[in-house]
Amino acid sequence: MTAVIAKEKRAAKRTTSKKKGATKKTRPKQTEKSKLYASLVVQLLSLLKGEHDFIANAANFSALLFNSLPNVNWAGFYFLHGDELVLGPFQGNPACVRIPMGKGVCGVAAQQLETIIVPNVHEFPGHIACDVASNAEIVVPLFDGERLLGVLDLDSPLIGRFDDQDAEGLNELATVFVAHEQGLGR
Ligand code: SME
Repeated sequence: MTAVIAKEKRAAKRTTSKKKGATKKTRPKQTEKSKLYASLVVQLLSLLKGEHDFIANAANFSALLFNSLPNVNWAGFYFLHGDELVLGPFQGNPACVRIPMGKGVCGVAAQQLETIIVPNVHEFPGHIACDVASNAEIVVPLFDGERLLGVLDLDSPLIGRFDDQDAEGLNELATVFVAHEQGLGR
């Protein structure tokens, strides 16, 4: 399987001074991507503030991701209903409505309770193609404590578009989203 589980360790790149004779090591800089995700957390909190409608909040969350993250052609939710995932609010082309547990990238992420990064969806056995433009995908499970609520799914036309920083950023955003809904007593 070509999926890369987000937990997988990746050697962190260190930034060192290139000046001749310099010995002082600089701290790894906050990357543009981590800055973008930090800004999205602030924007998401602002969108959620004071609003209690779950569908409206999920819809705005998907629109925020779709319009803020570069090279994303689909962003949205599948929520767990019984033993299958059912399409929720999203941005992008119309998508398949029901995904059984264990099927497609979404169903595998839901079954394994793991974030899954797929660099090339055409190499993922059982990938469910909703948009021919999609070449890469990331799926983040959503939890209410131990309970699986569903998944957040993003597609990209760019092979290798998603990496561990996306997994980390999207997991943080998903946690903020679910915590807000929990705070509303759901
Ligand atoms: N590709 C997904 C199906 C959902 S769409 O990408 C929106 C999958 O394999 O589960």
